[in-house]
Amino acid sequence: MIEVENISVQIGNKMILKPTNFFFKKGKIYGIIGPNGAGKSTFLKVISGFLPPTHGTIYFLGKRLIKPDPKISVVWQKPYLFQTTVYQNVAYGLKVRHMNKNKIKTKVKEILQKFQLEHLAMQKATYLSGGETAKVALARAIITSPEVLILDEPTASMDPQNVYEIEQIIQTFSRQLKMTVILVTHNMFQAKRIADETLFFHSGHLIEANQTQMLFEQPKNELTKKFIAGETFF
Ligand SMILES: Nc1ncnc2c1ncn2[C@@H]1O[C@H](COP(=O)(O)OP(=O)(O)O)[C@@H](O)[C@H]1O
Ligand SMILES: [Mg+2]
Repeated sequence: MIEVENISVQIGNKMILKPTNFFFKKGKIYGIIGPNGAGKSTFLKVISGFLPPTHGTIYFLGKRLIKPDPKISVVWQKPYLFQTTVYQNVAYGLKVRHMNKNKIKTKVKEILQKFQLEHLAMQKATYLSGGETAKVALARAIITSPEVLILDEPTASMDPQNVYEIEQIIQTFSRQLKMTVILVTHNMFQAKRIADETLFFHSGHLIEANQTQMLFEQPKNELTKKFIAGETFF
């Protein structure tokens, strides 16, 4: 689905992403973990076409990815909502795709229900809490049924109940739509709960990637072992 071929990112004389190779398969959920400053967000920016790598190539569905693609939805760490209603925010992706109004209405209603956001449909996005904002941003990203959903710490500002709901939604959509999900999480338990495979980044390096259970139970690299054991957070 997304093939990462020897990509690196250099800013000034600092390599913030060291040469990285990876292949993301269709319909799988990938967790990305690692300490702050490891290069996780940079990696997401590059594989979604928002940041051109200094070296290397990204392929999406077999073609070179050189700019953001409408089939890849991204929710950034601090999602930006349009200053209109929740309804308008969620409907946006369908409007720009020229879907007819009644169809949009049905789809938005359906997704707001799944996200338990119906009661906020007519509320201005300005007045939402952090958790609600994150949910609306995710609903807006999912409604277009993207091939790939990229999320940077999607549940960072949510309470446990919302975290649970969002994890269920991500898993359900991934299964139903065969949607590939790539999510950065600061929460190792979240990766354990929902990721098929997990990637561990440290100091701009992709240190280790494996089936999630394998990575957590039999980490190969010393840095991975330490991180999992909670010995290092920087
Ligand atoms: N535009 C930029 N200019 C200079 N340094 C940057 C830039 N973006 C990120 N960095 C640096 O690159 C490193 C990796 O950042 P980031 O990818 O945001 O890490 P993470 O998401 O893992 O916390 C950090 O040290 C950060 O300060
Ligand atoms: Mg980050």
